[in-house]
Parts: sequence; C-alpha cells; structure tokens
Amino acid sequence: MALVAGWKLAAAVTRAGGVGLLGGGYAGILGAEPILEDEYGLATGTRIGIGFITWALAQAPELLDRALALNPACVFLSFTDPALFARKILDAKVPLICQAQTLAHLARAVDVGADIVVAQGTEAGGHGGSRATFPFVPEAADYLAKAAPSVLLLAAGGIADGRGLAAALLLGADGVVVGSRFWAAEEVLTPTRATDRAIVASGDDTVRTTAIDALRDVPLPSEFSFRVIKNKLTDAWVGRDAEAAQALRKAGSLRFV
Ligand SMILES: Cc1cc2nc3c(=O)[nH]c(=O)nc-3n(C[C@H](O)[C@H](O)[C@H](O)COP(=O)(O)O)c2cc1C
Repeated sequence: MALVAGWKLAAAVTRAGGVGLLGGGYAGILGAEPILEDEYGLATGTRIGIGFITWALAQAPELLDRALALNPACVFLSFTDPALFARKILDAKVPLICQAQTLAHLARAVDVGADIVVAQGTEAGGHGGSRATFPFVPEAADYLAKAAPSVLLLAAGGIADGRGLAAALLLGADGVVVGSRFWAAEEVLTPTRATDRAIVASGDDTVRTTAIDALRDVPLPSEFSFRVIKNKLTDAWVGRDAEAAQALRKAGSLRFV
C-alpha cells in the first residue's frame, strides 16, 4: 500500500505471522516519499517484502535494483504487465508475486514466471479492476490447477477477518492479501484523522472511481479505478473525470495523495 505501508506496518504483519509488504510507492509521481532503504532498514529483525506499482516503477526502474539489493522476502508487482521486471526479480532469486485483476492478467503473470499470483476482486480498497472476488478466485484456481499447479494463489478484495480467509480458502485460494483492514491499523503512515474515519465506515461508505486519479494527474490505465471512502471530494467529482482533468489543468499543479 503505497504511502500507507511503511516499515512499522510491514514489520508488524510479519511479526504476527504474515508477510508484511513495504509500499514501494509511486516513484515520486505524487511527490516526496519515504526512502526505501531507510524504511527497510528500520524493520530490523523481520523479513518483509516490497511492493511496486508496475507502471510507476517503469518511470524509475533503478528503484527495483535498490530493492533487490536489500534481498527482500518477495517483490510484489501490481497494475500493468509485469514482464518488464519479472526476469530481473527471478534472476535475483527473490520470490515474485503478481497481482491480477483479470484471468488474462493472471495468465500473463504465470507466463512471466510469477511464484505467487493474487486474484484481486473489485471489492478491494485502493486501485483495482471490475471483477468480483467471489467468482474470480475459483476461476483463477481452476486456471492454475490446469496451467500452473505449482503457482500459489492468493485472494484479495473484501477480506478483513477470519470469515473472509475461510471463504477464500474454500474458493480455492492458498492464502489472502489484506489491505483495507490494515489501513486502519495504528502502524500506518496515513494520518489518524483518515484512519479514524475508516474505522467508523461501512462498505456502504466507499465508492470506486477514476475521478480522483484524474484530479491528481495519476496516469493509471483506464481498466483500473480507485476505491476510496466517500467524502466531499468524491461527492463533487465522481463521474466527472473530464471536468476533473480540466480543473487540474486550470489549477496548474494540484498534488495530493
Ligand atoms: C489504501 C490502500 C492502498 C493500496 N495501495 C496499493 C499499492 O500501492 N499497490 C498495490 O498493488 N495494491 C495496493 N492496494 C491494494 C492491495 O494490494 C490489496 O489488493 C487490497 O487492499 C485488498 O483488498 P482489501 O482492501 O479489501 O483488503 C492498496 C489498498 C489500499 C486499501
């Protein structure tokens, strides 16, 4: 979770028995970000992985070399074709996890040699696609059973407790990726005001939109959108992407996360 999962959250997840992921960020597209080596170094005594938004990494590929030099527990790639970076990660003998929003993404991840794939449903917080977790995960499991039985499958999107984990395992996943639930943890980099809001929110309070990225000039491919908690900004801009882009142009440079 770029700009959210720093060393504290990643280390806490690993200490609790999972694999914590440091958010590798937007490669500076959204402004200053924590220094990768500093964050990684603070998680001493734990094995954590590093996640990258693939299209952002393409704008600062040296970040991957810096990440691999740290010998992370894994590298997690998401959003757009992982082929550009897969070879380098696998050559470094670092496990590669690729997050997929469609079966085609999943097949591509298998083709480029991913050790683990994530079937991410539209229920997910943050960026994602349009497929629902419940039908996507079993389709992904069936695909892997035939095409790549040694590749592990994780389910993501709407899983926040043991009930979600149990459901995901029944659907054929080997494990889960949890984001939003940890976004409300005290270890995140996010301001407390925002996480306090998340704690009192329900699923009714979220919306999936592309308008926020249009407003903040994030060049995300159009197949992806962003699930956020509704607020005055979403009330004003959801469904008005073209006007949002125009407003951004007028404002010159409008940068926020
Ligand atoms: C605040 C937030 C930020 C996220 N940032 C990223 C990111 O930078 N890269 C990424 O691959 N996924 C990101 N995700 C998506 C997660 O990888 C994961 O798929 C998702 O959180 C799982 O669904 P859940 O939120 O319902 O648990 C983010 C999710 C949230 C909630």
